[in-house]
Amino acid sequence: MAERVFCIDLGSEYTKVGLRRDPSADGQLVNDTGIEDTDFCYPSVIVVDRSGPSPVAEFGKKAAGRKASNGIEVKSNWKQDLFTTAGPDEPTATPLETFLRSDDLTRLAGQHGISPAQLGQLRQMVTAARELLTSTGIRPVNRAAQKQDYAAALAHRFFHWLRQEVLRECARLPSAGLNYADIPVRVTVPAFAHGADVTTNPGCRLLTTAVTNAGWRLHPTLPVVTEPYANAIGVLTEGRNATKKGKADYGKLFARGPLITAGKDHAKYGPYRAVVIDVGGYTIDLTMLTLRPDGLLSTDLDRVFDVAQKSVPLGLSALDARVFAVIPPEKAAWLRGQAWQDFDGCRVSLYTEMKPIRSGTLGLIGGSGPEGNAIRECVEQFARDIAVEVQKFLPDFGGRGMNELILTGGGAGIPVVRAAVLAAATVGGRSFIKVHGPELKKEAGKLVNELDARFTRGGTAVGGASLYFEPSLAGSA
Ligand SMILES: Nc1ncnc2c1ncn2[C@@H]1O[C@H](COP(=O)(O)OP(=O)(O)OP(=O)(O)O)[C@@H](O)[C@H]1O
Ligand SMILES: [Mg+2]
Repeated sequence: MAERVFCIDLGSEYTKVGLRRDPSADGQLVNDTGIEDTDFCYPSVIVVDRSGPSPVAEFGKKAAGRKASNGIEVKSNWKQDLFTTAGPDEPTATPLETFLRSDDLTRLAGQHGISPAQLGQLRQMVTAARELLTSTGIRPVNRAAQKQDYAAALAHRFFHWLRQEVLRECARLPSAGLNYADIPVRVTVPAFAHGADVTTNPGCRLLTTAVTNAGWRLHPTLPVVTEPYANAIGVLTEGRNATKKGKADYGKLFARGPLITAGKDHAKYGPYRAVVIDVGGYTIDLTMLTLRPDGLLSTDLDRVFDVAQKSVPLGLSALDARVFAVIPPEKAAWLRGQAWQDFDGCRVSLYTEMKPIRSGTLGLIGGSGPEGNAIRECVEQFARDIAVEVQKFLPDFGGRGMNELILTGGGAGIPVVRAAVLAAATVGGRSFIKVHGPELKKEAGKLVNELDARFTRGGTAVGGASLYFEPSLAGSA
């Protein structure tokens, strides 16, 4: 059992760090200076500035304020490269080989007076060289593997920086005598369908290796949990931790809410289900925790809930890509060229407020004309696509059970998305006794828990640091 733990939720856009600084201290977010500022969200951005005599790396907020230009490289969205493996069609092709085989090269060769015979010879030579290489046992790496290796190197640098930041912030916390540098860490990962054991996934291994190489010590018994599971626990417990007779006190953790009621009288109220839908920058994460009939009495963490979870790469960066494709290319290029932090504001204007933005000399992006309509249609289609995923994921509840619905992630802040998700979750035989999410309207006869950014954005990090995930403490209702 770890008495204390950090939890890093590496977001493709923002990284959040949770902390339980004593066995039963409530979970908190590191660098939580006030709910308006969301300073606990560390931009997962790295800038390499090569404009001076030697390259300088910048991270987080500082990096997020820089624009890419000559000599300034902005590295963002590298989380997805960690988890992307080679496609089945080109398992080992290098970028150069792909180019050599491409029609683009045939066209270029024509333009530059290279005859088809010469091009054919070049291609044959490369194929022969590759065969020679294979016979030596050397495997040429493919593009996805190269990107993955590069992302792992970025992750290492990022976690090293993050550790300094986190320890600096912790030094300000009122806890005399505690050595924060000794506290182990748990990391959360997307729940892609890679089999039951996420720790065997290559992306997870790269992530935990980067974390340890950067100086963190992994939690001894449960170093990795999935984002959706941690998110569910974070929101349902709201970070509460408490023990009773040396065990996690579930009654206090879950505030004697619907979970406790249904868990204590399964025949009358059960089953209890918590559905979490997190619309993030890279993925939407869908989770359903179904409390086992005897779950609250279990001393084995794996036996408290049946957990169904799925991560689909349909986050806000997918919406951005669709929008870039329907607006004039120069406006898309202008948006892409924005400093990372300013692009956040563009998203809020275009997707949430549905207001146009001014793009220097290019005029307005969006608005009430055809361009604005095209963007709105992208947002609506994105919302419909998410709704389809929600429908595919959730079973029919047959009108039974005590169920809670939790909406989180930056994307849940977009009203069109939120409405589509709520509608898809609550059709057919599915109903929820309590709904948690941002900006929810109170409705007569329904329990609504309006979540602030600490939980819509930080729920995964807070949940991952929960006492709930200390297996040796599990099992006291
Ligand atoms: N009201 C809003 N309207 C539009 N976009 C928003 C709003 N609120 C937040 N966002 C965007 O949501 C994005 C995703 O935030 P979030 O913290 O959920 O992603 P993440 O955890 O980094 O991603 P992932 O979990 O997929 O790796 C932010 O980068 C921000 O631009
Ligand atoms: Mg996230």
